[in-house]
Amino acid sequence: MDQSIHIAATQAAAPCTIVIFGASGDLAKRKLLPAIYNLSACGERVAPENFAVVGFARRPMTVEKFRSDARDWAARYSRLELDQKCWNDFATRLDYVSGLDQADGFHRLRQRLEQLEAERHLPPNRIYYLSVPPEAVAECIERLGSAGLIAKPGAANFTRIVLEKPIGHDLVSALELSRLAHQYFDESQIFRIDHYLGKETVQNLLVLRFANAIFERMWGARNVDHVQITVAESEGVGSRAMYYDPAGALRDMVQNHILQLLALIAMDPPVSLEADAIRDAKLNVLRALRPLSHRGAGDLVVRGRYGPGLVEGTAVKGYLQEPGIPPTSRTETFVALKVFIDNWRWAGVPFYLRTGKRLAARESLIYIQFKDAPRILFNRTGELPSNALTIRIQPDEGFSFEVLAKQPGLDITLRPVHMNLRYQSEFSGASPDAYERLLLDIMNGDHTLFVSARFVEKSWEFVQSVLDWWSDDPAIPLHDYAAGTFGPAAADQLLERDGRRWRNP
Ligand code: BG6
Repeated sequence: MDQSIHIAATQAAAPCTIVIFGASGDLAKRKLLPAIYNLSACGERVAPENFAVVGFARRPMTVEKFRSDARDWAARYSRLELDQKCWNDFATRLDYVSGLDQADGFHRLRQRLEQLEAERHLPPNRIYYLSVPPEAVAECIERLGSAGLIAKPGAANFTRIVLEKPIGHDLVSALELSRLAHQYFDESQIFRIDHYLGKETVQNLLVLRFANAIFERMWGARNVDHVQITVAESEGVGSRAMYYDPAGALRDMVQNHILQLLALIAMDPPVSLEADAIRDAKLNVLRALRPLSHRGAGDLVVRGRYGPGLVEGTAVKGYLQEPGIPPTSRTETFVALKVFIDNWRWAGVPFYLRTGKRLAARESLIYIQFKDAPRILFNRTGELPSNALTIRIQPDEGFSFEVLAKQPGLDITLRPVHMNLRYQSEFSGASPDAYERLLLDIMNGDHTLFVSARFVEKSWEFVQSVLDWWSDDPAIPLHDYAAGTFGPAAADQLLERDGRRWRNP
């Protein structure tokens, strides 16, 4: 018997045109175009009946070439297999405009949009997806404004803008970008993407926590010993030196993905499932995050950089030998932090966070260790393994609960066992890609899975003190670790000092 409880149906979005700025870039190829194709594919169609996609980039290109490139990308990266009939229908909706780097290009974009909308009976509902390098974002916004491409909020038709991470390079630039965006757009028109929020298991965190009364009662300082969040990657910097070297792991992963996971795991129950209620509850976690002051941060933050090593059996280069990395680079590819959330729920509970490139495995997980039972019965003579809940974000999505059980036999022997849920075996069918979920929500104007301006500001405030501390004091160690390990020994010591250890996948 199907016992599913349907809470919200996928809504049919209003007709619209999505303009992909930077349509020949990696994100458009690998994620955006395949995701829009999947949303519109026959059988699973959730995209509006009438919509168009306009690629906007620098290079001149014919519409036919854009369509045939898009077909190649979708064939390679789409979740659903390409179906010729569906593709033919999708391809007719694709258009292309060049001149992204020229003011004139924006006027041409406007003309083309007006023409398309008239030809296809599309209302001027427009979504501008800025998949451009961070330094180009401000100019795109200003040019959209001067070309008259932005409708006021509350107008009969909507204009929405989508901003990708990184939003700013530091606190000052993030605030500056926010000020500029608000000069042209109302907050209700801005969608800031953190693709982690679109991942199925990340969305499930809310369900796990707030649909199951059992967990919520254990969630806090009274029962939780500590929490670990690990986002480990086996990939190195690859071909992204130009972006990554000025950024590093703290900016690239902690300021956004990791703090989002932290907020979701630590937030109080929101008053409703409305976007604002959820975003406010998450923001409150950042408000309570104890700042990492310069003086105290020495014991609380570890940074590292990968050297050569073996990852999954293959020899790989060290960070400094990667193409495009300057030999003098001091960029961290790994960071581990111990943080506290100074509110009633979490007072005194350490949260250990870590992320790094070229680690032993690609694995993201949240591990919640519960306090031990009183030392009165089974654990009177020695310590027993603690109960723990592990939430696996990727790749093997699911969660497991570690408890103690009696091993069958005449002796009383206890053994830790895992109550394990694997998404793959429990639910059939592949989960939609994070970008499918997020693009659909943008079309529907739903902000729940998007980052608020205040969250961006608060998260930058938090990491900025560490960035300042690192740049003020070059003597702060940048620990080497061999590729294919779980980071430098100093990160292990961060927990060992507290009598704990990282849970490695
Ligand atoms: C991106 C970072 O935001 O997230 C990358 O810029 C990182 O450096 C990526 O590799 C990780 O995403 P995922 O979905 O592969 O875990």
